Amino acid sequence: MGNNRFDAAAGSGTAVPELGAADIKQFDEDGYLVLPGFLPAPLVERTKAEVDHWVDSGLRERSIASAVSPEAHGIPPLMELEMEAHGRLLVHPPLLAVLAQLLGPAFAFHHLHSDRRPPGSPGKDWHHDYEQEPQGERTHVMVHALHYLGGLNASVGGLALLPGSHRQTAEKTARAHLGTVEVPGEVFIGELQPGSTVLIHSALFHTRRAAPRGESRERYMVDSSYVQGGVRWPPAKPYWRHMLGRARELGLAGDRWPDLFAEHHFTEYRPAGPASGARQGPEAGA
Ligand SMILES: [Fe+2]
Repeated sequence: MGNNRFDAAAGSGTAVPELGAADIKQFDEDGYLVLPGFLPAPLVERTKAEVDHWVDSGLRERSIASAVSPEAHGIPPLMELEMEAHGRLLVHPPLLAVLAQLLGPAFAFHHLHSDRRPPGSPGKDWHHDYEQEPQGERTHVMVHALHYLGGLNASVGGLALLPGSHRQTAEKTARAHLGTVEVPGEVFIGELQPGSTVLIHSALFHTRRAAPRGESRERYMVDSSYVQGGVRWPPAKPYWRHMLGRARELGLAGDRWPDLFAEHHFTEYRPAGPASGARQGPEAGA
């Protein structure tokens, strides 16, 4: 395991990985784990095709409208998890196996966001994505799985993380004044092969940094997020019950994870206030 990289599943795509003690310690202490080549290539290709459809058809914009203005737009006609490959990615068995080692056996799905950013897109300021109202002690873990379908390299920019910052109680936007600049102690992930996944504790501060000479190709990123059982979490969407219900109807969890799409993990939905860093619908996280 060198260089903070998790190698056991690299290239295998389907093996159920066993995290080592060092991996679990790194996630606990530093707040992240890099899984290069974690996703099988056929799943990556099918998911990319669905992302193209999601963006090009306007379904992504439609989904954002339903999240931001539910009174005007109601429930979206299609959600990410209703697309075949996206649904499979959400419950990819090696991913759930890794999550069970980090979160324990009781955890739930929180959201799935999918995006294809055009060349030349700006970065995203330093922020975290931990859902808590108000922000307080980090007694329970929320994880964002950042799936870089096309990988990361200098043509699409990279992801910078601030190890250990998930232990601080802070608003999501507490470091937004820094923009996307390099900060002391950061880890920059600038190169990842296609189909790689970065797991971050959702309270970890991170920034999407634009490519140094401008992004020259499209950047595919799907983020799937999960919450530890034992507390109730703010849901991601006004239509969260519909979202969980569709996942159950589609049988995504199978028999192995009966709690994955259960409602009891969540509070009622409330639109996020400006101070907490708004949940603005399907904005893929990094
Ligand atoms: Fe994010």
